[in-house]
Amino acid sequence: GAFTGVFASPSALAAKPLTIGFSQVGAESEWRTANTLSIKDAAKKEGVNLKFADAQQRQENQVKAIRSFIAQRVDVIAFSPVVESGWETVLREAKDAKIPVILTDRAVNVTDQSLYVAFIGSDFVEEGRRAGRWLMERAAKTPDRTFNIVELQGTVGSAPAIDRKNGFAEVIAANPKLKITRSQTGDFTRAKGKEVMEAFLKAQGKSIDVLYAHNDDMAIGAIQAIEEAGLKPGVDILVISIDGVKGAFQAMIAGKMNVTVECSPLLGPQLMSIARDVVAGKPVPKRITTVEGVFPAEVAAKELPNRKY
Ligand code: AHR
Repeated sequence: GAFTGVFASPSALAAKPLTIGFSQVGAESEWRTANTLSIKDAAKKEGVNLKFADAQQRQENQVKAIRSFIAQRVDVIAFSPVVESGWETVLREAKDAKIPVILTDRAVNVTDQSLYVAFIGSDFVEEGRRAGRWLMERAAKTPDRTFNIVELQGTVGSAPAIDRKNGFAEVIAANPKLKITRSQTGDFTRAKGKEVMEAFLKAQGKSIDVLYAHNDDMAIGAIQAIEEAGLKPGVDILVISIDGVKGAFQAMIAGKMNVTVECSPLLGPQLMSIARDVVAGKPVPKRITTVEGVFPAEVAAKELPNRKY
């Protein structure tokens, strides 16, 4: 056998359980619930000791959780930052304590990229572009028609809200018939999505042609508001959203949603393997982008049985 001398053998190293402190955004959406489950399941399967903290959509709770993970001297800190900015100080504290940080799902806006080792998640700008491209194709069928679009944004200051807004706007700018007439946050929740859509309908009523929601939960809440206003979602108002949760497939099968752009929450297995590599001193890619598709209503019934979240 190989000579290992005074050093611990690889198997002895493997025997020490890895401790990961994970700060989750909250439980705001069907997507988030699936993401939490994926992380907890992967930790269990991998024998990782997971310290899980729910921040209830508040940055200050995440900062507290990260500080407590530093104090507990976990091996790796992972988190999905609720907003993009304001992380320099606490990430510097983690770095000074020599605890590597892995970002999942949402990115941070920091000038010093060495404050985290890796980011695992989606390309949110591309998701917004995909939503825009679907509408561009749809609009091309009726070149004379104007489309008034209302937009339900995600959490203010969050990477997915910023990026999905920009990606969509970039693509639809090529067609002057596509106009965003109202845009407001629904905080990624069904209840807020419904409430804001009600306000949009009150203000703009029948002249709304398209709803672009930054996630399925807000779209599903808005669908309810559209129906309560006596209009047909998916027909009178086209409904475009992002995530691809089962609820969106059900809404598409019912004819109430037109398309969902996939955003996968199943990041748990990748997080565990990257965390292991980081602790083992192996080089890891700085950015790991999730591979995703687009699902229009026409394929919803066929695809629903394949959906994992
Ligand atoms: O960060 C990912 C987004 O957060 C999902 O699209 C949304 O549903 C969730 O709340």
